[in-house]
Amino acid sequence: MTGRICGTGFCVPERVMDNKELSGMVDTSDEWIRERTGIERRRIITEETTVSMAAKAAERALADAGISPEQVELIITATISSNVILPCTACEVQKEIGAAWAACFDVNAACCGFLTAFQIAQTYIAAGVYRTILIIGSESLSKLTDWTDRGTCILFGDGAGAAVLTAGEGRSFRGILHSDGSKGAALSCSGSHWKADENDSGFMKMDGREVFKFAVKRVPEVIHEVLKLNDCSIDDIDYFVVHQANRRIIESVAKRLDLDAEKFPMNLQEYGNTSSASIPILLDELRRNGVLKKGNRILLAGFGAGLSWGAGILDWIIE
Ligand code: UT7
Repeated sequence: MTGRICGTGFCVPERVMDNKELSGMVDTSDEWIRERTGIERRRIITEETTVSMAAKAAERALADAGISPEQVELIITATISSNVILPCTACEVQKEIGAAWAACFDVNAACCGFLTAFQIAQTYIAAGVYRTILIIGSESLSKLTDWTDRGTCILFGDGAGAAVLTAGEGRSFRGILHSDGSKGAALSCSGSHWKADENDSGFMKMDGREVFKFAVKRVPEVIHEVLKLNDCSIDDIDYFVVHQANRRIIESVAKRLDLDAEKFPMNLQEYGNTSSASIPILLDELRRNGVLKKGNRILLAGFGAGLSWGAGILDWIIE
């Protein structure tokens, strides 16, 4: 028995912030941001919240799957920007969408969050514990962003993506996750309530070059590792859906794997880096744009704070 994605959905805030607007806030330019990151604009919450976007994405994914909220047995939400600490976002989503019978918890694995939720869901399904699981990545990163720091504020955006997994026949693949806590300082956020000292703004802090070097080394490594683990060849993969952080990172990963960049779809130009939401938003867009076809084999890869990185493989079953 394996968990197959049978529905997807996403929700992003209405408000668009383009690079030009950002260049009026910090010393940067549209040209610099496009050239160094590929990002052109991002969405920023106004009325929306991590919970409201997660609930909307979840409702769309359930409608897409033709599954009612009452059928959902487990909701896993990946987020680093929940509305409140308690109750968790998954419980709030349960309340919003009326998934009365679901167990709920959140996962904090930053940009590997959706991949982690996917692997947990797969493991539960393989063990026969649950048959219908809703996984969501939802972030309001604008709340954690220092809007005076040009090294970070140009990168991030807000949004949510969701997928419904159901148990069924098909090949099951083993996923991989790695972490190196000794490098945690490269991308950190104490949160406004836990300032380490008076010099700590509480916002996200990042050593961009360090994270960049880490990503371009570790992502190709883990892609090779997950292919080997599952006895797959790189040519078996139709699309590599990689965390949408930076166009140069993704192009460099493709180059290191000696693959055409066409196999690495991107939408970071529209939404920036939405952390745990980036992979499910992209999956849903690819599906609705008719890019993903039934029978495609897809490799998901994530990397980010922790530092953590990982990869997983799935066969696409939606027509
Ligand atoms: O989910 C994972 C999250 N994190 C990431 O994926 C981040 C990975 N890292 C990156 O994407 C890149 O490192 C950045 C986009 C953050 C920065 O690009 P870079 O090519 O690594 O730039 P840099 O930090 O090496 O800085 C180059 C120059 C510096 O000026 P000097 O020292 O050469 O005079 C920076 O001060 O660019 C300057 N700079 C900027 N200039 C205009 C840094 N940020 C900006 C900016 N606008 N926003």
